Amino acid sequence: MPKNKTKILVIDDDPKVSWILSEGLSSSFHFLSARDGIEGIQMVATEKPELILLDIKMPGMSGIEVLERLNKIEDRPEVIMVSGHGETNYVVESVKLGAAEFVNKPFDVQEIEIHINGVLERKKLKSQVSSLRAEIQASMSFGACIGDSEPMLKVKSIIEEVANSDLTVLIRGESGTGKEIAARMLHQSSDRKTKPFVKVNCAAIPRDLLEAELFGYEKGAFTGAHRTKQGRFESAHKGTIFLDEIGDMPLELQSKLLQVLEQHEFVRVGGINNIHVDVRIVCATNRDLELAISQKEFRDDLFYRLNEITLQLPTLRERPSDITLLVDYFLDKYSKLYEKEPIQLSSAILDKLISFQWPGNIRQLENMIKQVIVRNDENIIHDLIAAAGRHPLPSGGSSLAEARVETDFSDLENQFAMKERIGRIVAAEEKKLISDVLNKTNWNRRKAAKLLEISYRSLLYKIKEYKLNDAK
Ligand SMILES: Nc1ncnc2c1ncn2[C@@H]1O[C@H](COP(=O)(O)OP(=O)(O)OP(=O)(O)O)[C@@H](O)[C@H]1O
Ligand SMILES: [Mg+2]
Repeated sequence: MPKNKTKILVIDDDPKVSWILSEGLSSSFHFLSARDGIEGIQMVATEKPELILLDIKMPGMSGIEVLERLNKIEDRPEVIMVSGHGETNYVVESVKLGAAEFVNKPFDVQEIEIHINGVLERKKLKSQVSSLRAEIQASMSFGACIGDSEPMLKVKSIIEEVANSDLTVLIRGESGTGKEIAARMLHQSSDRKTKPFVKVNCAAIPRDLLEAELFGYEKGAFTGAHRTKQGRFESAHKGTIFLDEIGDMPLELQSKLLQVLEQHEFVRVGGINNIHVDVRIVCATNRDLELAISQKEFRDDLFYRLNEITLQLPTLRERPSDITLLVDYFLDKYSKLYEKEPIQLSSAILDKLISFQWPGNIRQLENMIKQVIVRNDENIIHDLIAAAGRHPLPSGGSSLAEARVETDFSDLENQFAMKERIGRIVAAEEKKLISDVLNKTNWNRRKAAKLLEISYRSLLYKIKEYKLNDAK
C-alpha cells in the first residue's frame, strides 16, 4: 500500500460495500474491511485506520454497540455511520455517541467521498486546535527552563531557595537571557502559584498611563476615567507582580513604588483611601542600575529595597554546554508548532552554534532555530550567523532597550497571530458542528441545543453569528 493513502476501515457484513468503495475511491484511500463488530474492533487496534465506516445493522453486535465499544479507545478513529432504509431513528443516538457523520444506503460513491473528506478535514483541524491550545497554555504558564550547565543550576537552586520567602527579587541579565522565564519560575515554585502572576512592562506603557495602570484610578480622576478601575497591583493580590524593565520606571513613580514596598498599601489615582495588597514583587532589568543611580535616574533607596535578592542570569556564551539542549528543545517545539518534519542538525552546524558569541542570547538562538524549521534548511544558519556578525546587537545601555523593544513586538505579534489562528479554526469547527447537528435534527433547535450541550439562547445566537439557515 502506498504510504500516503489514508486508511479507512469498513465494518459491514455486506462485502459489496467495501468492494464498491475500493473500486471507486482507491486512488485516494486504502480500504480495509471487517465483516462484523468484533473483527472491526480488533482491526482498529492492529491497523490503526484514520476513519471507520460503520454499518448500523449487522448480525451479532450492532453498529451502535460497536460505536459504544470504540468510544472506550483513547483517541479512536472518526466514525461515519452507514444505515439502511428506515434506520434514521439511530441518527440522534449515533450523534450522541460521537459519530461524525451519518450516510444512508444505497450511497453514491461521490457523495461518500465528500463526507469522508469533510470528516478528515475536521479531524485535522481538531488536532491543530489542540496542539495550538497546548502550545499557548505552555507559553502562558511558562516555557521550560532548559539548561543544566553550572551557572544555570546555580540560578535554579537560588530560585528554589527563595521562592517561598517574600523577599523582593531583582533579576538581572542581558537581553534574551531568560529573565521573564526566571520570574515565572519563581512564581510557579512559590506557594502563590495558584494565584495571579501579573506582568507589567514598565518600558512599554506610556509614562502618564503607568501610574494608573499599576495602581488603578477612581472615576473622574482624569478625562476619560468614566469608571473606577483597579490597577495591576490589586489584580495581583495574593500572587506575584513582575515589574519588567524596572530601570525604565519614571522617577516620580519610583517613590510611590517604594511606599508600596514598605507599607504594602497605596492610593488609586484620584482616590483618598489606602488600598492594602499582599503581593510579592519581582523585577527585572538589563539596565546598569548603578549607573542610572549615579545619573540620578534611579532612586538608590528603591534599588536597595528591590534588591533583597539578586538573580544574575548568565549569558548564553557563558554556558555553551547548554546550547545542544536548547537547540533540541527549540527544534522539537517549533516543528510541532508549525507541523513540520522534525530536523536534526549536523555536527558541523552544531559546532558553529556552540562557538558563536550570541549577543542576543537565547532569544537569538530561538529565532534562528525557528527559521531553520520554517524553511526546512539547516544551512541558513551560515547566513544568519554571518549577518548577525555584520550587525551585532548593541552590547549595553539604552541602545539595548531598542533592540529589545523590537524583539518584544515580534513576540507579541507571534502570540496575536497564534491566537487569531486558533480563533479562526475554532469558529470554523464550531460552525460545521452546529450546522451538522441542526441538519441531523431537522433544524429542531431545542433538540440540537441539547445535543450540543449549549443553551437554547446560545444556539440561536450562534445560528445568527454564523449566518446558518435551513436550506430545506
Ligand atoms: N532557559 C531557557 N530555556 C528555554 N527557553 C528559554 C530559556 N531562557 C529563555 N528562553 C526563551 O528565550 C526567549 C527570551 O527569554 P525572556 O523573554 O525570558 O528573556 P529576557 O531576559 O526577559 O529578555 P529581554 O531583556 O529582552 O526582555 C523567550 O522566548 C524564552 O522562552
Ligand atoms: Mg524580558
